[in-house]
Amino acid sequence: MDQLQALVDEALKAIETASTVPEIEQLRVTYLGKKSTFSELMKTLGRMDAAERPAAGARINTAREQVQQVLEERRQHLEAWAREQRLVAERLDVTLPGRHEASGTRHPVSRVLDRLSHFFTSAGFQVVDGPEVEDDFHNFEALNIPAHHPARAMHDTFYFNAHTLLRTHTSPVQIRTMETGQPPFRVICPGRVYRCDSDMTHSPMFHQVEGLLVDEGVSFADLKGMMAELLRAFFEMDVAVRFRPSYFPFTEPSAEIDVQCVHCQGQGCRVCKQTGWLEIGGCGMVHPRVLNNCGVDAERYTGFAFGMGVERLAMLRYGVQDLRLFFENDVRFLRQFA
Ligand code: PHE
Repeated sequence: MDQLQALVDEALKAIETASTVPEIEQLRVTYLGKKSTFSELMKTLGRMDAAERPAAGARINTAREQVQQVLEERRQHLEAWAREQRLVAERLDVTLPGRHEASGTRHPVSRVLDRLSHFFTSAGFQVVDGPEVEDDFHNFEALNIPAHHPARAMHDTFYFNAHTLLRTHTSPVQIRTMETGQPPFRVICPGRVYRCDSDMTHSPMFHQVEGLLVDEGVSFADLKGMMAELLRAFFEMDVAVRFRPSYFPFTEPSAEIDVQCVHCQGQGCRVCKQTGWLEIGGCGMVHPRVLNNCGVDAERYTGFAFGMGVERLAMLRYGVQDLRLFFENDVRFLRQFA
């Protein structure tokens, strides 16, 4: 019993210097657990005089309770402190602006291509693809543009050698389609084409969408109707469409398609160079010689074809003045098409 006060002092001191919750738990086991010093002391009661026993028991209990109480207080204090430390460490300022993923946008050329594809696939056309490195036969010869034909000069062709070139239009894809399939044909050919030309409205690489419809009894009226419908859908306006007689070796008759200026509604402005009309592309009835070149019976089938520049449509649709902007990939420009 002499040791009791010393024991209490020692326990209290240890509790006071404990700085973590696990340490406190360790002290609890040491001083208050089943095998602790207090428990050992309790066992000595049996060896005492019966007269002293109750008082001694009470003293031990009081001492034990005192230690227990201090220990629990210390535990609560340390737990609160640990919680406080965690809150500080894991502090989150919910008012800070978030870190956004910068999301890209569809390129305006892709958007126009998507719109055109959607229009034509809804009308039962298939989207077909072909090589950008072409041979002379598919790019020219089969399209009724033989060597030395003056129309070749218009194409400003990039040649690899006498027979191999970068396609100057996507018409060769139509040739390939007719060569390998059976009529009727309803296809559009979107893709990159190349011409040696570069200024505000020309770039050495640009995109075209060409289309071909071959079946029995196809007439120029079908072509006109389809083009007018396409342009109204594309510009989302009830625009007037005009067909100007023109010449392409692979179509006969041929026409240039004009749409009423979508900026001034035909009044005359800078965009349409005061003419009130915008040139959109070329078209015509497929020349019988082209059909025959591809093994299609020109006595039985007729067809129409058309071609238009995608960047030009994008410039008109989005009011872009310089074609080169489409290829610079300046995000300040591209973001405007979100
Ligand atoms: N292939 C022509 C060009 O690129 C466009 C065109 C296609 C014209 C089909 C008429 C018919 O210039």
